[in-house]
Amino acid sequence: MDQRAVVRSGYDEIASAYAAERDEEGCDRDHVEGLASTLGDGSRVLDAGCGAGTPATDALAARHDVTGLDISREQLRKARERLPGARLVQGDLAHLPFRDGAFDAVVSFHAVIHVPREEHAAVFAEFERVLQPGGHLLVAVGSEAWAGENDDWLDTDTRMVWSFYGRERNRELLADAGFEVTSVETVPDELGGTWTIVRGRA
Ligand SMILES: C[S@@+](CC[C@H](N)C(=O)[O-])C[C@H]1O[C@@H](n2cnc3c(N)ncnc32)[C@H](O)[C@@H]1O
Repeated sequence: MDQRAVVRSGYDEIASAYAAERDEEGCDRDHVEGLASTLGDGSRVLDAGCGAGTPATDALAARHDVTGLDISREQLRKARERLPGARLVQGDLAHLPFRDGAFDAVVSFHAVIHVPREEHAAVFAEFERVLQPGGHLLVAVGSEAWAGENDDWLDTDTRMVWSFYGRERNRELLADAGFEVTSVETVPDELGGTWTIVRGRA
């Protein structure tokens, strides 16, 4: 299976269904706003796997120089509708099309979990590469290790694939990528599971 192709075409198909389910005002936005408040005006921030531009890209856009990156053209089209002036780029988390040190902060919510697990180290290495030394990282990743797929995600008859590492492995991989992990928090999921929110410094 070409996991990327399944994920990309899946989000192209279900972008509206995902948007209808997404809680734009919950704790993810609180975490992004918490980080945003520590950054100077105009800081360069990457939202990696930005989806339809919420809840992270739009929370950052007010005061910061935000770039949204996503693999799905349809998600980016929706992000463009929401944020007509934002810099939005189609690309892959494991091969970021940005120069070394291009950003002061990288945020990434619920996106690394769609990349094959054996590539998570490469994704975190890319996050570290595009950050300034001392730059801030905020990611939402898995709490429990799991890999699998659903042929009818969100009752859309559309296939989707996930690849999670658990909390401790994520912490290790981020440290191995060169991050100083400054906080690891487990937060409840709207659907009954949990997510791990990690903050760190490059
Ligand atoms: C669950 S959605 C999360 C979107 C948004 N960050 C949010 O919090 O609602 C996952 C997003 O990651 C994107 N994505 C998945 N794999 C990707 C990859 N390899 N490179 C870039 N984006 C990817 C998907 O297209 C999708 O928009």
